Amino acid sequence: MDVTADGCSVEVYRLLPPAGEPEIVHAAVPAGASILELGCGVGRVTHPLMELGHRVVAVDDSPDMLAHVRSETVCARIGDLDLGRTFDAVLLGSHLVNTALDSDRHALLAAARRHLAPSGRLIVEWHPPEWFDSVASGQGGRLGDVAVELADVVREGDLLSATVRYSADGRRWNQEFTCRRLALDDVLTSAGLTFDGWLTDDRNWFAARARRWGWRNDHRPA
Ligand SMILES: C[S@@+](CC[C@H](N)C(=O)[O-])C[C@H]1O[C@@H](n2cnc3c(N)ncnc32)[C@H](O)[C@@H]1O
Repeated sequence: MDVTADGCSVEVYRLLPPAGEPEIVHAAVPAGASILELGCGVGRVTHPLMELGHRVVAVDDSPDMLAHVRSETVCARIGDLDLGRTFDAVLLGSHLVNTALDSDRHALLAAARRHLAPSGRLIVEWHPPEWFDSVASGQGGRLGDVAVELADVVREGDLLSATVRYSADGRRWNQEFTCRRLALDDVLTSAGLTFDGWLTDDRNWFAARARRWGWRNDHRPA
């Protein structure tokens, strides 16, 4: 059974259908946009975005995930990514930005920023602060054929650890994770980004843009 470095089961992600993510991204970017998707998994979101008319370059550090992706793919750690080209939009979904380690988050956001075209939009799915207050063991639901349940929720300061229990067709998978509550302004400012609006009413998705001036980066005007 293939499991990625961050504990995702390839088998589970092959079973999970999209849950509205492609439409949220599609509504936030220009028609036919070039999109760099960071942490694409098996292409659960990639493929519908392609069907919606976007040109997607899909990045993951798991060859086992990427083997299922039909777009252009890049096998790399996101923080190390430097493709030497920019995109209309960069997608950082799946709450990756809530990673527990500040250094990992800085690397993710720096990579996102260096691949944004000057007018490009960073599209982020995160856990907003209110999620950290309300989330509890036993919460869950179904995604397609997969039952999903949260267990073992433990809070420690700004960190929250839990296990996601997946089951389908009599099979079970567990994925443990730890994530960090973030102050959005601090996170964006330190990455040379500015907030560009909520994309959903529940504030699970937002957009950001690169700050154009006064920031040390590849795109600063000469
Ligand atoms: C939770 S899965 C989500 C996959 C996909 N975004 C989706 O919604 O179906 C996270 C994916 O990101 C990848 N990933 C996590 N951190 C990464 C990193 N630093 N560099 C490259 N890939 C990463 C994992 O290998 C995994 O495939």
